[in-house]
This record gives sequence, structure tokens and C-alpha cells, in this order.
Amino acid sequence: MKMQKIVISKMAIDDLDGVYEIDRESFPVPWQKSSFEEELKNILATYLVAKLNDKIVGYIGMWFVIDECHITNIAVHPEFRHMGIAKKLVNGMIKLCNTHGISYILLEVRANNIPAQKLYESFGFKSDGIRKEYYKNPDGTYDDAILMTKEF
Ligand SMILES: CC(C)(COP(=O)(O)OP(=O)(O)OC[C@H]1O[C@@H](n2cnc3c(N)ncnc32)[C@H](O)[C@@H]1OP(=O)(O)O)[C@@H](O)C(=O)NCCC(=O)NCCS
Repeated sequence: MKMQKIVISKMAIDDLDGVYEIDRESFPVPWQKSSFEEELKNILATYLVAKLNDKIVGYIGMWFVIDECHITNIAVHPEFRHMGIAKKLVNGMIKLCNTHGISYILLEVRANNIPAQKLYESFGFKSDGIRKEYYKNPDGTYDDAILMTKEF
């Protein structure tokens, strides 16, 4: 079956419900919908969405601060994983980094989140630190974060 076209665009207000749904399906402690609304007003923030036939199937968020890009989040709808959608979103972000004159990208990722670490490694990100007990889980336990960076 032919893979239909994934379209990457900047997140707009009409995309919020779709992004919020993916977030709820993807993270133990999802963001509030209002947090995404706030990000739309944040002049430092840019969010990209991936659409398949107008349905939101993934998103990536980033902050541009001077020459640094910080990835806030990336998620792909569980039914649409392993189709290269995250790669398209990261490529979209890298294109924006080139237009913003970014020197490096950084992010935190859960130490046990191997799929995400493999994704970032495939784009040349390197692990260069641990933030102990960075994430709080719903059961009150904590997970460490690995800090990963990519230099341009
Ligand atoms: C991580 C995530 C965004 C990947 O999305 P995806 O669209 O399935 O990823 P892609 O199909 O574009 O795969 C890109 C690369 O990621 C890595 N990868 C993705 N899923 C993987 C898995 N289950 N195990 C190992 N590596 C994986 C591989 O390197 C893959 O490249 P390859 O197919 O050439 O081997 C998705 O699993 C997700 O939404 N997870 C929940 C949210 C999350 O953890 N976000 C990260 C926060 S830091």
C-alpha cells in the first residue's frame, strides 16, 4: 500500500485538540491543553505538526533562545509510529534551526526511553549529562533525564 503524504506545518490554534490527544496517549504526565495554548502565544516557542489527510499524527515543540534550540517535546500518535513521522518532524526542526542561525540543539529525555534516544542519535545527538530525578511519575517515583545535544 502506498504511504500517504505527511505534511509538516506550524501548529495553529485549530491543531490544539489533535496535539493534546497525542500528548495524552504518549506521556505518563501529559501537559494541560492550556499549556499548548500558552506556547502558541510564546514568542520563543515554535511547534510543528505532522498531518496525514488533515489528521494530526505527531508534533514537535522547540524554543529558540539566541543561538540555542531547546526541544520541549516530540510525540507521534501510537497508531502511526514506525512510519518515519518523527524523523520528518526532526528534519523540519533542523531546517528551522538553519534559518535561525542555531549553534546547538539540546533536550532532556527519560533515561529509560530508548526509542527517543535512538531517534536523536540517528540525527547526531550525543548524550552529555544526567539530570537526576528530573521527571516525576504519577506513582510518586522519579526518573532520571539524559541531556542530549547536537552541535551544528
Ligand atoms: C519516540 C517517538 C517520537 C518516535 O516516533 P516514530 O514516528 O515512531 O519514529 P520514526 O518512525 O520516525 O523512527 C525514527 C527512528 O527512531 C528510532 N526508533 C523509533 N521507534 C523505536 C523503537 N521502538 N525502538 C528503537 N528505536 C526506535 C529509530 O532510530 C528510528 O529509525 P529507523 O526506523 O531508521 O531505525 C515515538 O515513539 C513517541 O511518540 N513516543 C512517545 C513520546 C516520547 O517518548 N517522546 C520523546 C520525548 S523526549
